[in-house]
Order: sequence, then structure tokens, then C-alpha cells
Amino acid sequence: MTELRTVIEKDHKFYFNTFGDRIPVCFTSGKGMFIYDADGRKYMDLLGGIAVNVLGHGNDVLVAAITEQASKLIHCSNLYYNGNQSELAERLVGLAPGMDRVFFANSGAEANEGAIKLARAFFYKKGKPRSRIVTALNSFHGRTLATVTATGQEKYSKPFAPLPEGFVHIPYNDPAAAIEIINDDTCAVMLELIQGESGIVPASEEFVSAVSAACRKHGALLIIDEIQSGMGRTGTFFAYEQYGIMPDIVTLAKGLGGGVPIGALLANEETAGAFVPGDHGTTFGGNPLVCAASLAVLDEYSAKSLVDNASDMGRYFIEKLQQIRDPHGVISEVRGKGLMIGIVLRDGGAAEMKMELFSRGYLVNSVGSSVLRLLPPLIISKADIDDFCRTLETIIGK
Ligand SMILES: Cc1ncc(COP(=O)(O)O)c(C=O)c1O
Repeated sequence: MTELRTVIEKDHKFYFNTFGDRIPVCFTSGKGMFIYDADGRKYMDLLGGIAVNVLGHGNDVLVAAITEQASKLIHCSNLYYNGNQSELAERLVGLAPGMDRVFFANSGAEANEGAIKLARAFFYKKGKPRSRIVTALNSFHGRTLATVTATGQEKYSKPFAPLPEGFVHIPYNDPAAAIEIINDDTCAVMLELIQGESGIVPASEEFVSAVSAACRKHGALLIIDEIQSGMGRTGTFFAYEQYGIMPDIVTLAKGLGGGVPIGALLANEETAGAFVPGDHGTTFGGNPLVCAASLAVLDEYSAKSLVDNASDMGRYFIEKLQQIRDPHGVISEVRGKGLMIGIVLRDGGAAEMKMELFSRGYLVNSVGSSVLRLLPPLIISKADIDDFCRTLETIIGK
């Protein structure tokens, strides 16, 4: 086993310095809610690889499906038909109200890039091109050139100018701004229903209704980015089911493969029809291996009622966090939906709190200076939640 010190030295010497100084640990195995480092130290994983490990670690059904498929056929090409791909497409369409077709990509950014292309192709094919894509300030949509431009945070796009044209940002949760900006030139609005990367900020119903109504009024497409909020995390398979809206395009990734890289672009029949052979493609996307993994994830969702568990445990978790004894008023707000939870610290210090939790064997994420982000596996139990809340109570009571 390579020593942690050696791993860090090699990383610092040979890997691009895009992640800065990482948390000094190297994980080597995991089971259920727990992940273990090279020394066998155990951590409760409340981040789940940033919303990816929806089944937790080492799920037997997922491991068996990947192993079996790997022994048969890992990859062929999208030049040929693929049984796992068509099966997974059918299953996802069945789970996504209003969606009729699916395209598989390899990541969230790539799914969103496809969504942007599809929206523009939709108007181009009608002979009435529209390029304007409206997104929200503080959103996060990915790291490709188009998706960093869609992302409403300049720090992610500034060094890469010139950026693709046609992107406009509006304040999140500002219905008046949406009504003012969305017009007959708008190609699409791309929206997260809970902004994840900027601190677990749920969209208000008024804002989402205003955006949806303005899109309908002006014939613009509504793209909902469910890359972090999808896969049952908010208590329904897709968060948009809770907002009474019907998007034209939905994107999904993260938990879809339970840790195997896969993204998906879903659309209704009319919108999907804008892509004709040659317009879009991928070498790896939706190969037999990743689709076998995703099918196993969906099987486990059904067998273990994981969307219901996310809803029940999410409610329990948020209530428990709100009831924590907090004599110094460290926590100012607990927000989120289902198992997408943000703990807001009144005086900042989220990074320090994350490290304190880490030193006690809990993995969480900090966003900005004041929010702890929790995106645990959907298998989490009341006992896990109680355990974490006890530790947090001890730390903030000091
Ligand atoms: C809402 C949202 N969209 C897009 C992305 C980009 O996904 P990926 O990192 O898989 O490209 C993320 C990743 O955090 C996300 O949270």
C-alpha cells in the first residue's frame, strides 16, 4: 500500500493543480454509509462523493452488475444497438413525467452542454433561430466552455474568454426579473430547482411558476438541471415533480450510475426531434457497462424504496438538525429538501467545522464560508442521523 505522504508528493508533482490542497486522506474501501482510509480509519460519508454514491459504498447488487457486465462486454460503440442502453432509456422515461426520449453522456456538464445544443437546434430547425439562454446568478451547470458561461458565477468563466455568446443571468428567486428578461428572443431558461454548489438554496414556487409561465408565453424551452437534485434526492425522483411544472428538457448525472460516470439528457418528443443523425454524439456515453450499473441502481431504488427513504430521512434529518442544542447560536438556518441539506453557520467557519467533523470521522462539504453541505447516500438511517447530530451538538456546544 502506498503511503499517504507518497501519494500527496506525487499528486503535487504530477497532477494538475486544479483541486489545491485536498483533504489529506486517501480512501481505499467502503461499505454502506462508511468509507475507510488506507489505515483502516472509518468515516461516516455524509457527502456521498458529492451526491454520487446514492446506494452508499460497496452495494452488492451494483458490484455484481458491474462485475458481470465487465466480464461479458464493457464497451462496443454507439454505431451498434445496445440492450442495456435501450432498457435504461425506457426505465428513465417511465420515471420522468413529460419526457419521451433520452441521450446518455458521461457527466453532468456534458448533459447540460447537450441540453444547450438541443435547445438551439430546436429553434434553428424551425427556421427561426434563437440563441439566448437565460440562467440564474449563483447557479452551477458545469465546466465546459458553454456550461461555465451558463453558470452564473464569473469566477468559473473569467479566465476562458472569449466565451460563447448568448447567455444572460437573472437573480435567483426574483420572479419580476424573470418576467422582464424572458421574451420572444429567448431560446431557453436553464434552472436548478435547488442551487447546490452555491449553498443549498431552494427555488421559491413563485419564481419557478413565473419562469415556467414566461417560457410558455414566449415559446422558450424550459431546461431543468437535476444533476444534483435528481435521482430521488429531494424526496421525489425529480425535484420538478414538486413544483407543478413541465420542463421540455431535463438533465441528470451524479447518482445515476451509483459512482460509474454517466449523464443523461431527457426531452419531450417534439424537443428531442431537433437532433437528427449527425447533430450530436459520444464515444463512451451509455456504453453497456455504465448502463448495467445504472439499471442496478434503479433496481435497488425499487427494492429498497430509496426515494421514499430520502423523503422520510430528509424530513427527519432537517428536524433533528433544527432541534440541536445550540447554546452559542452557531447555526442560523437549516435548509434544503430531502437529503439535500445545507447547515448555515451564523459567523462562518464552515471549512473549519468540516475539518473538525472530519477529525471525528464524518465527511461533509463546505460551500462558501458559512454553509455545510450534506448529500448523503439515500440508504441513510435514523441511527446514522442521530449519531451525526450528537457529534455536531458536541462540537457546537463547546
Ligand atoms: C446542478 C449541477 N449541474 C451540473 C454539474 C456538473 O456536473 P459534472 O461535474 O458531472 O460535470 C453539477 C456538479 O456539481 C451540478 O451540481
